[in-house]
This record gives sequence, C-alpha cells and structure tokens, in this order.
Amino acid sequence: MDQYIQAAIKNRRSIRDFTEEPVSLDSLHRIIQAGIWAPSGLNNQPWRFVTILDRAMQREIAALTKYSHIVKAAPALIAVYLDQEKMYDPVKDHQAAGACIQNMLLTVEELGLGAVWLGQILTNKEQVNNILQLDVQYDLMALLAIGRPAHRNQKSRRQPLEDFILHEFGGNTP
Ligand SMILES: Cc1cc2nc3c(=O)[nH]c(=O)nc-3n(C[C@H](O)[C@H](O)[C@H](O)COP(=O)(O)O)c2cc1C
Repeated sequence: MDQYIQAAIKNRRSIRDFTEEPVSLDSLHRIIQAGIWAPSGLNNQPWRFVTILDRAMQREIAALTKYSHIVKAAPALIAVYLDQEKMYDPVKDHQAAGACIQNMLLTVEELGLGAVWLGQILTNKEQVNNILQLDVQYDLMALLAIGRPAHRNQKSRRQPLEDFILHEFGGNTP
C-alpha cells in the first residue's frame, strides 16, 4: 500500500486557523488540477471553479456564512461549482463533485497548506453567485478556505471500522 497516500488521507484535517502568508495563484491551479483528475460519470467533468484572492470580495462572501471568521482569515478561497449544463445524473454528478473536492483537499496537504470544506454557506448560494458574477447554470457545491495552517493541533476521530461494515460475505475470518 502506498504509505504516502495513506498518510495524506489520515493526516488531512480541516484547517480553520491560518497564518497571513499569501497563497499563490499557481498553488490554487495545482489544487484545481488535482480536482479535475477526479473520476466523473461518463467522464463528463461537470466541475467548475472560481479562485478568490481578492480581500474585498472575500469580506463580501464572508458575510454570507456563520463561518465568516474562517472565510475572512483564509488567504485564499476556491468556490467549487457544478455546471448544470454538463450534468447528466444528479446523484452521480454530486458524487463526482465530492471526489473532486477530496482530491483538492489532499493536494492542499501535499503543498504544506491547509483547508476546510465549507458547506454551510450553501444556504446563501444565490448571493454567492451574485458576488462571483455567475448565473444559475452554476450550482455551488463548496467553498474551500485555504492557507498556511497557524498550527496543527486539530484533532478528529472516526468510529472503528466494524461500526460501518453491515455485512461481510466470503473472505477469511481474521
Ligand atoms: C459536506 C461538508 C460540509 C462541511 N461544512 C463545513 C462548514 O460549513 N464549516 C466548517 O467549519 N466545517 C465544515 N466541514 C468540515 C467538517 O466539519 C469536517 O470535515 C469534520 O468535522 C471532520 O473533521 P476533519 O476534516 O478534520 O477530519 C464540512 C465538511 C463536509 C464534507
């Protein structure tokens, strides 16, 4: 098993405290590049992105979520969208968006940066579209707040494996 991938999956944490160090557009492009290599049904690649390094725009977006402190503190934002004109199956296209976002989060780790997937802001997705000058063709999936982690004290836990497995048919009993 690739230890590097396993480490990235397990060490990735939602990062909500950032230093003021700027994030380059080049880093954002590398993160998006990883996102677009995610699998999608029929390889339809329904995802679209907006990069936001503009502080004034960031403050406007921050006003639309109860996590405004995170949005304001992050040196960079990426809004992840589904292009509804490219979609073919709502469930499969949303699954593809999730795969895309996870690829992006793992690449953030690889770059030594940190990020949090922000979903609460979707309650105001129409206003986000207005700020980002996008029409209803584009459906907001998530806002990623990205920056250099101020610390790595984040803790997270998962329930044990056996809590999630419903049945196991065949195979060897350990
Ligand atoms: C669909 C989705 C929506 C989320 N929305 C928010 C959010 O609005 N605000 C936030 O602080 N974290 C949000 N998170 C991050 C989760 O809280 C976090 O992934 C979870 O607590 C596990 O922590 P970990 O990512 O460090 O393992 C979201 C995660 C997902 C997958």
